Amino acid sequence: MINNDPIPVVVPAGRMAALEQPVLALPSGLELRPWRPEDAGALAAAGQDPGIRQWNRFAVASPADAEGRIRRMHERWQAETAAIWAIAPAGGGEAQGLIGWGHLDLTEGAAEIVYWLLPAARGRGAAVEATRAASRWALDELGLHRLTLCHSVANPASCRVAAKAGYTLEGTMRSALLHADGWHDQHLHSLVADDR
Ligand SMILES: CC(C)(COP(=O)(O)OP(=O)(O)OC[C@H]1O[C@@H](n2cnc3c(N)ncnc32)[C@H](O)[C@@H]1OP(=O)(O)O)[C@@H](O)C(=O)NCCC(=O)NCCS
Repeated sequence: MINNDPIPVVVPAGRMAALEQPVLALPSGLELRPWRPEDAGALAAAGQDPGIRQWNRFAVASPADAEGRIRRMHERWQAETAAIWAIAPAGGGEAQGLIGWGHLDLTEGAAEIVYWLLPAARGRGAAVEATRAASRWALDELGLHRLTLCHSVANPASCRVAAKAGYTLEGTMRSALLHADGWHDQHLHSLVADDR
């Protein structure tokens, strides 16, 4: 029997824009907080880091470019197309990394995570903590259903972050993303609301 009922909208349009972007505490004393204009230097530094340039395909042309990117993060929250936080010491302090949701589709209840840390902040579990906190917010507060985490198969650190944050490896997407050195296969990991 064919079901012609309308497919429900997972998160109604307008719910996210009505929310103030929250500050999310991490167990280690870091927090996820909105990017601020004064974080432009940290964003520009990320654009110079070889690992971030390689794996996030991220480059910043100038200080003005960094400032514009921070402005657009807030515009994209209002447009409900992305939710991007700085990873920073709790209670103030310079941004040490970025985490958030792109490819955000409220109707379908889906989003894809993006993250990076400046070199001095790596190797202390911050990416795992940040991924857990951002995922909890996306599922429990925003009400999304399916979160994805994709990374090049040549980036084992990101694969460990996915596994330690509770994401399931679904498979390998062949020749899925063009990097500076050519096409890379990508792992697709996911976390869905029913996993917890
Ligand atoms: C990927 C990245 C965010 C990880 O952040 P991090 O805070 O250093 O990660 P963690 O400290 O939580 O460590 C994650 C795990 O990866 C492991 N790891 C780190 N580098 C690794 C490597 N080269 N090979 C294998 N495992 C590695 C760590 O040992 C750790 O696992 P363990 O706890 O079982 O030992 C960070 O390294 C980074 O920003 N890299 C450059 C940009 C990037 O790769 N962005 C992601 C694009 S998908």
